[in-house]
Amino acid sequence: MGNESFRSIVISDMALVRTSQKYAPPHVPDPGLASRWARTGSSLRATFTAPMSTVQLHDLHFEPFISEQELGKAIDVVASDLNRKYAGKRPLFIGVLNGAFFFAAELVKRITVECEITFVKVASYHGTASTGKVDQLIGLNERISGRHVVVLEDIVDTGNTIEHIMAVLADHHPASISIAALLFKPDAYKKDIPIDHVAMRIPNAFVVGSGLDHDGLGRNLPGILRIVQN
Ligand code: IMP
Ligand code: MG
Repeated sequence: MGNESFRSIVISDMALVRTSQKYAPPHVPDPGLASRWARTGSSLRATFTAPMSTVQLHDLHFEPFISEQELGKAIDVVASDLNRKYAGKRPLFIGVLNGAFFFAAELVKRITVECEITFVKVASYHGTASTGKVDQLIGLNERISGRHVVVLEDIVDTGNTIEHIMAVLADHHPASISIAALLFKPDAYKKDIPIDHVAMRIPNAFVVGSGLDHDGLGRNLPGILRIVQN
């Protein structure tokens, strides 16, 4: 392969933000590092991490909060706890869409025990404040009775959603149910149900990234970004 087909380029912060809108998410973890991107064929890839900038989603601005690496380490811990707890029990992981797609994928690739995974969907949240209303649980086709169920949530905030899901699942008489959440806001939580496995506890601030959205945007952003308070 000749040098001309693998040409490194260094671009400024401004250029990175502009370029990233076309080629990559507008934020990468670890602030303060130099930005260097390599062009390979028609795509750009980061050769090492670039500075993070704030990101605008609709009307709100978000700043870097938790890096992909930190998140990965926290998921490692949850996975090893689950691997110990569910050895020989063939757990059924139930991811709560849309937000839990990232956590579910990252978690189950670290699960070494025999397991199944499925997804359900609820609609409970609009904008930056929990509505407290939870609609139907859609897509639950697997036989739950007698199974060891692990519910996977992107984030537990007030707990309204998880309370509803637990009530529906309990009606199906599983052998056991536990909850694993990527993020948990203890200061916002209003329920008594224990959140058994939490990757990261965070303060009561609105966040996006790694599956979490602000009105449909931001799920694709790596790591977790926190709302910038004006
Ligand atoms: P809860 O019912 O108040 O616990 O909220 C649960 C759901 O609200 C989560 O599954 C998310 O979809 C959404 N949610 C709660 N907090 C946030 C946040 O900070 N950012 C994005 N979505 C959130
Ligand atoms: Mg959710």
